[in-house]
Amino acid sequence: MTEKIDSGLIMDQVTLKFSSPDEEGELEVLDKVSLKVAEGEFVGIVGPSGCGKTTLLNIVAGFQPIQEGSVVHNGLPISKPSPERAVVFQSAILFPWLSVHDNVAYGLKRAKVSRKLIKSTVKEHLQMVGMAGFENYTPRQLSGGMQQRVAFARALALKPRMLLLDEPFASLDAQTRVIMQELLQDIHREYQTTTLLVTHDVEEALFLADKIYVLSKRPARVIEEFNVPFARPRGLTLRGEAGFAELKAALLKKIREQF
Ligand SMILES: Nc1ncnc2c1ncn2[C@@H]1O[C@H](COP(=O)(O)OP(=O)(O)OP(=O)(O)O)[C@@H](O)[C@H]1O
Ligand SMILES: [Mg+2]
Repeated sequence: MTEKIDSGLIMDQVTLKFSSPDEEGELEVLDKVSLKVAEGEFVGIVGPSGCGKTTLLNIVAGFQPIQEGSVVHNGLPISKPSPERAVVFQSAILFPWLSVHDNVAYGLKRAKVSRKLIKSTVKEHLQMVGMAGFENYTPRQLSGGMQQRVAFARALALKPRMLLLDEPFASLDAQTRVIMQELLQDIHREYQTTTLLVTHDVEEALFLADKIYVLSKRPARVIEEFNVPFARPRGLTLRGEAGFAELKAALLKKIREQF
């Protein structure tokens, strides 16, 4: 994918320390992390538990200020959350008192979008995630996988330039997870949204990403950058191919070296 100047995400030499009374005042979480996500690209991040992946995503979301380095999205430094960057977390965080329709419509209403456009946008996105017909349900009446579909619809309805995903399928069973990975691939193909996916699931990263960064144990450094060469669209049989197994083994080896 050709990279456009001033577009996409550029994280340059980002260092982050949290204050912690237990470790002589400071807990170093990120150590000069540099990475790039070109416009429209799908990038995966893997690394050992506790290394700083969620922290990294929080920085890109604009929730977490940094101390050193720079983070720039589409030419502008990230200093606060923006509707240009939507986040989907491990478990769907929906408003339990709102219907599926109103959950997806929530951000649009706040953005003062016209009623007519809200109606068509909600419809389009619920259809995209396979949740048409569930408009009047509340989150409690849905399975975990269905709730996560609604969370994706809500994130995408605001037409973000970037989608930030933190282990979005980790709480789902293995089969639902694979279905959701295919759905995410379809979403990426349809909307071409620049995507940053944090996952502990190496197969998930290989199935979905154009490029994967491997982080070291805390404080996280980028220890490897893998380009994922598989043609798109990727199908279920990809996981059985020799090239997939080879790349998976190489990735796992890199991660294991960190323990
Ligand atoms: N707000 C905070 N204040 C202090 N320390 C924090 C804060 N947030 C995270 N940490 C610490 O930063 C380190 C990295 O946490 P983070 O959640 O980013 O890891 P992670 O790679 O996402 O882990 P996991 O794979 O288990 O989700 C941990 O040691 C954690 O205790
Ligand atoms: Mg995490």
